[in-house]
Amino acid sequence: MSLFFTCLIVFLGVCSGCQHPICQCSGRVFICLESKVIQVPQDIPRNSTELRFVLTKMRVISSGAFSGFGELEKIEITQNDALEVIQANVFSDLPKLHEIRIEKANNLVYIDQEAFQTLPNLRYLFISNTGIKFLPAVNKIQSFHSVILDIQDNINIRKIESNSFAGLSLESVIIRLNKNGIREIENHAFNGTYLDELNLSDNYNLEKLPNNVFEGANGPLVLDISRTRISFLPISGLENITKLRARSAYNLKKLPALEKFVALIEANLTYPSHCLVHVACSPKPDAFNPCEDIMGYNFLRVLIWFINILAITGNIVVLFILTTSQYKLTVPRFLMCNLACADLCIGIYLLLIAIEDIKTKSQYYNHAIDWQTGSRCNTAGFLTVFASELSVYTLTVITLERWYTIAYAMQLDRKVRFRHAMVIMIFGWVFAFTMALLPIFGVSSFTKVSICLPMDIETPISQAYIIFLLVLNVLAFVIICACYIRIYFTVRNPNVISSNSDTKIAKRMAILIFTDFLCMAPISFFAISASLKVPLITVSNSKILLVLFYPINSCANPFLYAIFTKNFRRDFFILLSKFGCCEMQAQIYRTETSSSVHNSHVRNGHYAPAPKISDGTLYSLVPLNHSN
Ligand SMILES: *[C@@H]1O[C@H](CO)[C@@H](O)[C@H](O)[C@H]1NC(C)=O
Ligand SMILES: *[C@@H]1O[C@H](CO)[C@@H](O)[C@H](O)[C@H]1NC(C)=O
Ligand SMILES: *[C@@H]1O[C@H](CO)[C@@H](O)[C@H](O)[C@H]1NC(C)=O
Ligand SMILES: *[C@@H]1O[C@H](CO)[C@@H](O)[C@H](O)[C@H]1NC(C)=O
Ligand SMILES: *[C@@H]1O[C@H](CO)[C@@H](O)[C@H](O)[C@H]1NC(C)=O
Repeated sequence: MSLFFTCLIVFLGVCSGCQHPICQCSGRVFICLESKVIQVPQDIPRNSTELRFVLTKMRVISSGAFSGFGELEKIEITQNDALEVIQANVFSDLPKLHEIRIEKANNLVYIDQEAFQTLPNLRYLFISNTGIKFLPAVNKIQSFHSVILDIQDNINIRKIESNSFAGLSLESVIIRLNKNGIREIENHAFNGTYLDELNLSDNYNLEKLPNNVFEGANGPLVLDISRTRISFLPISGLENITKLRARSAYNLKKLPALEKFVALIEANLTYPSHCLVHVACSPKPDAFNPCEDIMGYNFLRVLIWFINILAITGNIVVLFILTTSQYKLTVPRFLMCNLACADLCIGIYLLLIAIEDIKTKSQYYNHAIDWQTGSRCNTAGFLTVFASELSVYTLTVITLERWYTIAYAMQLDRKVRFRHAMVIMIFGWVFAFTMALLPIFGVSSFTKVSICLPMDIETPISQAYIIFLLVLNVLAFVIICACYIRIYFTVRNPNVISSNSDTKIAKRMAILIFTDFLCMAPISFFAISASLKVPLITVSNSKILLVLFYPINSCANPFLYAIFTKNFRRDFFILLSKFGCCEMQAQIYRTETSSSVHNSHVRNGHYAPAPKISDGTLYSLVPLNHSN
C-alpha cells in the first residue's frame, strides 16, 4: 500500500514539476526514501507542508534540522533502523505543525529533552516501537489544541515521572501509553493536564497506580488499565471517570468504594462480582455469579451459626462418648464414629462459610475473587465434598449392616466382622478423599460460586463429575430405602415385636429417609442444573437449601443414630459417673445391660427378637424390647 502511494507521489511529483536530487516530491510533500539519505537534506524547500523519512540511513537528526519550515504540517519518520539520536531543537518553532509520527526505529535510544518546543498547532504526537528509555519531555510544546499523545510499544520505557505531561497542551489531552514496559508511575504524573483519556493497557508489568497519581490533573474521564497487573485503583481522582476499562486485569480484585465513581457510565471489568455499579457494566453478574453477600439473606446469616454449632457440638459429643466408652468397639459403634467424623466435617464447612460471610459482610464484591480463587474456598469445597460423600457412604453401610444383621441373625458365622467393616470404611475414606480432591486437580472447580460447591459446568468432564456425584447419592438413597423396607417387613413379624414398637420403627425410618432426601436436595439441584446447563435454581436460593437442608443429616444423625439410643445414654451416664455425677442412672444402665445380655443367652434358640443376639443391637434403630 505505502509502496503504491510512494509510486503515485513520484508520478505526481514528475507531473507537478517539483524536483529534488535525493528525495521525491509531489507539490509540497517530500519523501526521503532509502539508503541514499543519511541526514535531513538542507535543500528541501522551506515552504513544504509534509516531510516523510522512510527506510533511510540517518543516524542522527541534528539540531535545527527542520528550522524555518513555517508551512510544515506533518512530519513522519518511519522504519529508520539506523536512527539513534534526535537532538535538541529538532521539533521547535514550527507554528503549523500538527502531526509528528516517529515509528519503527528500534535503535532510537535518545530523544533530547529539548527536542520538542513551541508547537502551538500540535494535535498528534506518535512515538512507537523505538528504543527510548524515557518519555520525551513534552512540557515545552504548549499547544493551543487538544493533543493526543500516543506512545506505544516502547518496551524500554519503565517509568513515568511526576509532571511528565504538564505544558503539553493548554487544552485537554488524550494520553495513550499502551504496551510500553512501564512498571512505575509516580504521584502527580499528570499534574497540570486536562486529562480526557488515559490508556495504560498492556503494560504487563505495571502493578500500581499510587494514590496521588491524578493529583493536580483534571480527570481522567476515560481510564483503561486492561491487561496490567494493577491491584488497586488510586483513592482520589476517580470522581470524573465516565468509562472504566479493566479487562483481564486479574489482580484488580478490589475496587474502591463505589461512591467514588460518581460519574461512571460504562464499565468493562474482569470479574462479574464487581458489576454492582448501576451503570452499563460487563461482565454481568448472573445466576452463578450473583452480586450479594455470601449469606444473601439475614435470616440465613443467623441460622448458619446455630446450625454449624449444633452439627459440630453434636458430633464431637458423639465421637467423645464413643471413643471413651468402656465397652468394646463393635461394628455399629465403629460405623457411628465414621458417620460422626463426616458430619463433623460438614459442620466445619458451614463454620468456614459463616466466618467468611461475617468477614466480608456488605463488602463481598471486593473479596469474592480472593475467596473464590483462594485456598480457603478450596479447603471448604474439599471438606464438603469429602464429608457429604463419606456421610452418604457411611449411612449406606450402616443401613446395609443393620439389614444384614437382622436378616442373618440366626447364623452366627455370617456375622459382620470388625475387620470387614474396617476394610469397607477404609475404602469409603479413600473414595471420598479422591472425589473431593478431583476438583482441586482441575476436574471441576469450586470457584464458580461463593459457597464453594463444585458447580463448574464449563467442561464436559466437570459436568460428568457432578452427575457422577448425583448418581452416587441417588443410588445410596435407593439402597437405604430398600434396606429399610426389608427391615420393616422382617421385624414386622408379629412373633418378633409388638405392634407398638412397630409403629416406632416406621416413624424413625420415615424420619431417616426423609432427612436423607432433604439433605441431598441442594446437591441434586446443582447437579441437574449443571447437566442441563441451565440454572434451575439461582445461587441465592440454593443458599437457602444449603443452610436449611444440606446439614440436616449432620445435625440429626448424632440424635437419630446415637443420642436417642439406649446404649449411647448408658455410655453417657457411665462417663458422667466417672466424674461423680449421675451415679444412679449409670448403675441402672449397667444392670440393664448385663441382664439383657444374660437374657438373650437364655432365650437363644427360641424365636427371640432377632437383633438382640447380635452386636447390631448396640446403637440400633430397632428398639430393644427387654421391657416386654
Ligand atoms: C515553494 O518554494 C519554492 C522555492 O523554494 C518555489 O519554487 C515554489 O513556487 C514555492 N511553492 C509554493 C506553493 O509557494
Ligand atoms: C503541579 O504543577 C504546578 C504547576 O502547574 C506546580 O506548581 C506544582 O509544583 C506541581 N506539583 C507537584 C507536586 O509537582
Ligand atoms: C486502549 O488501547 C487499547 C489498545 O490500543 C484499545 O484496544 C482500547 O480500546 C483502548 N481503550 C479505550 C478505552 O479506548
Ligand atoms: C471533576 O470535574 C469537575 C468539573 O469539571 C472539576 O471541578 C473537578 O476538579 C474534577 N475533578 C477531578 C478529580 O478531575
Ligand atoms: C463494555 O461494556 C459495555 C456495557 O456493558 C458493552 O456494551 C461493551 O460491549 C463492552 N465492551 C467490551 C470491549 O467488552
